[in-house]
Amino acid sequence: MSRFPNHRAIVTGAGQGIGRGIAERLFAEGARVLCVDKSGDGLATLPDDDRIKTLVCDVTTAEAPGAIIDAALAVFGAITVLVNNVGVGNAPPLHETTDEIYDFQLGVNLRPAFRLSRDVLPELRKARGNIVNIASSIGVSGYRRWAAYSAAKAGIIGLTRHMAAEYGPDGIRVNAVAPGIIATPQTEGRRDAPRFRATIVETMPLGHVGEVEDIAATVAFLASDEARFITGQVIAVDGGQTSSVFISEAMIEAWEKAHPAG
Ligand SMILES: NC(=O)c1ccc[n+]([C@@H]2O[C@H](COP(=O)([O-])OP(=O)(O)OC[C@H]3O[C@@H](n4cnc5c(N)ncnc54)[C@H](O)[C@@H]3O)[C@@H](O)[C@H]2O)c1
Repeated sequence: MSRFPNHRAIVTGAGQGIGRGIAERLFAEGARVLCVDKSGDGLATLPDDDRIKTLVCDVTTAEAPGAIIDAALAVFGAITVLVNNVGVGNAPPLHETTDEIYDFQLGVNLRPAFRLSRDVLPELRKARGNIVNIASSIGVSGYRRWAAYSAAKAGIIGLTRHMAAEYGPDGIRVNAVAPGIIATPQTEGRRDAPRFRATIVETMPLGHVGEVEDIAATVAFLASDEARFITGQVIAVDGGQTSSVFISEAMIEAWEKAHPAG
């Protein structure tokens, strides 16, 4: 499969987890990929190939967008795809959210995507390129705790829809993927805890956590020309987490008792 022979992509947070899976998938399908991460450790283990370049950069800094765009243009000469993937989970409920926590959460989970998307526009206009933002199921539906994270991820969805409307006439598409619970270092320690499994994982229609490849495949589709008529969309890749209300077997039994057949 080679859907990206002429593509030059930027993936942020590409050192591990979902971002790495996306970078590897785009690369496997023929793209040139600039992999950005604040830590050099994961970047150092990416495939050694001329089509993969790495940049150690903290995307939260004011200089980051310029540094990332300059690096991509220096090595590839153009930018056709931007994947805004950096994000940091876990946050307390609203009544425990200090201004510092709010600034941190919005500063990592929203502002870097906002700035980089804004500053890459001239290149995307030239290339008629596209952006895929990584949101979250927690930006789509309500969730306990995670107040500022929810707000930031809902902001990512708003940014996606705004940009699709504003820049569609320039030939730029902007979509988002909202992952559910995915097996990455970020969810390690929590996703296998018995109570978490019983109350969150096993209550989803598909009943298991997702893999990085599930997100990477969806991002690759959205970034490819196969999705050329799709923009402003948020695709939940979440095992059905945001699409249904959990009904336990006990509820079904109670229902059947109250409404016997015939
Ligand atoms: N894993 C999940 O279940 C899940 C669910 C919903 C949404 N998401 C979203 O998916 C994205 C990736 O999540 P993940 O689970 O792969 O995370 P992860 O923590 O496993 O990996 C994130 C990567 O981003 C890098 N990074 C963090 N802050 C950075 C910064 N300031 N500058 C540059 N790089 C930085 C880290 O070094 C790391 O390599 C995030 O936006 C996250 O919110 C994840």
